[in-house]
Amino acid sequence: MTSDTRRILVTSALPYANGPIHIGHLVEYIQTDIWVRFQKMQGHQCFYVCADDAHGTPIMLKAHAHNITPEQLITQIAQEHIADFAAFYIEFDQYHSTHSSENQYYATLIYERNRQAGHITERTITQAYDPVKNMFLPDRYIKGDCPICGASEQYGDNCEACGASYSPSELKNPRSAVSGAIPEYRNSEHLFFKLQDFEAILRTWTNSGTLQPEVINKLEEWFKVGLQEWDISRDAPYFGFEIPKYPGKYFYVWLDAPIGYMASFQALCNRNPELKFADFWGPEASSELYNFIGKDIMYFHTLFWPAMLHGAGFRTPTAVFCHGFLTVNGLKMSKSKGTFIKAATYLKYLQSEALRYYFAAKLSSSVEDIDLNLEDFVAKFNSDLVGKLVNIASRCAGFITKCFAGRLAPTLSEPDLYNQFIAASPAIAEYYERREYSKVVKEVMALADIANQYINNAKPWEIAKQDGQELQLQEICTTGLNLFRVLIGYLRPVLPAIAAKSEVIY
Ligand code: 2FM
Ligand code: ZN
Repeated sequence: MTSDTRRILVTSALPYANGPIHIGHLVEYIQTDIWVRFQKMQGHQCFYVCADDAHGTPIMLKAHAHNITPEQLITQIAQEHIADFAAFYIEFDQYHSTHSSENQYYATLIYERNRQAGHITERTITQAYDPVKNMFLPDRYIKGDCPICGASEQYGDNCEACGASYSPSELKNPRSAVSGAIPEYRNSEHLFFKLQDFEAILRTWTNSGTLQPEVINKLEEWFKVGLQEWDISRDAPYFGFEIPKYPGKYFYVWLDAPIGYMASFQALCNRNPELKFADFWGPEASSELYNFIGKDIMYFHTLFWPAMLHGAGFRTPTAVFCHGFLTVNGLKMSKSKGTFIKAATYLKYLQSEALRYYFAAKLSSSVEDIDLNLEDFVAKFNSDLVGKLVNIASRCAGFITKCFAGRLAPTLSEPDLYNQFIAASPAIAEYYERREYSKVVKEVMALADIANQYINNAKPWEIAKQDGQELQLQEICTTGLNLFRVLIGYLRPVLPAIAAKSEVIY
């Protein structure tokens, strides 16, 4: 490592272990994977860790519904997730699970340190209870008629028909979505994390200069409303980690989920003894830590997460990088409209790098949603990747193989053009660094147009017919192939397999 080698730890949000990876998820994993591949190409020491988010009520209930244990369910889903990620060339240095000994260790440690520092409090709350299933019901497991518009089959916290928000006790004709029983209201003692203790440090962190403007604005709004205590406990039955000294009480899934980033990194350290956990998580760690997330989980990652880390004496993230949602043909993904596309379904019909390329062409550093327009997707793949980029190589490689036994010319016909392509490198690197991938793609495609123009003008197919022009033909094609080599190198983080195939010497 040289003195300017950065040490960087990168995470993507942990997918729930109760369902498949879909193309909406893939926006984030592709965005992160491109960034990590870029950092590694720059020679930095960069690690990408992730895990399945394995705890919580939905996973417990789904396992019951399938007559299997939650452990069996999460093992099966983890295998599916890992296969989907591999098919999309999402290359983690470690893929772990929040249902792991490492995660139990760090979740308990973080809780206990915060408790010792006075940041945990206890209070009795009243909550809906299913007397048939003998369990407390999260809001989304209570259904009934909207108290505002009367629409039936609405969830306990908001109405999909009229958009009203309310508390579950206001629902008319409430029913447990688990058993159909009429919910009772019962008391239970819960543990709360005193988020308000961290306002000053969170304000400093917000102004550290690395958060996106949209994220800063959102945080300002939340500070204005006032930070609230956070309920971190759930009653049995619950699939999670039991809280020490509180039998029958478990850590809420969202407490141990982000701690799963640490657990995954610990598992990586266990396999690589030269890696030191404290170098990446200690309070004085000089390494960089980035969490890539979707905008729906900003609250957890910009308030609870840095606060509980700080309260337990760990470092806070260098930045949280937030992206928008994916729409398909301008609409929210929907199962009924057939626009909910699972990763595995996509893979049955299409190449994974086409999607990597399309998302890259759309992604920027902003929190705005991105749209997968299916016509535009086909056009981009055919015209950009095949028609422009790969075309450069295919127009030149044939002559080199046929006429020159695969040997390139010792010199280029247009060294200035080649130098122009090389000179684009710092700007492209800067775009990658700032997650402005759409600008990378635009720049590379503009250069691909120039390369194709050069071949159009040089007309190797005509030169090939003329006697005594062999060196000229070889130089033109050598130039074309070198321009292609530079461009595919620029797109290597986006198209790792196509780039690797281009490097193979036959
Ligand atoms: O929203 C989700 O899908 C969560 N499973 C993300 C967890 S990210 C991190 F905190 F673990
Ligand atoms: Zn309503």
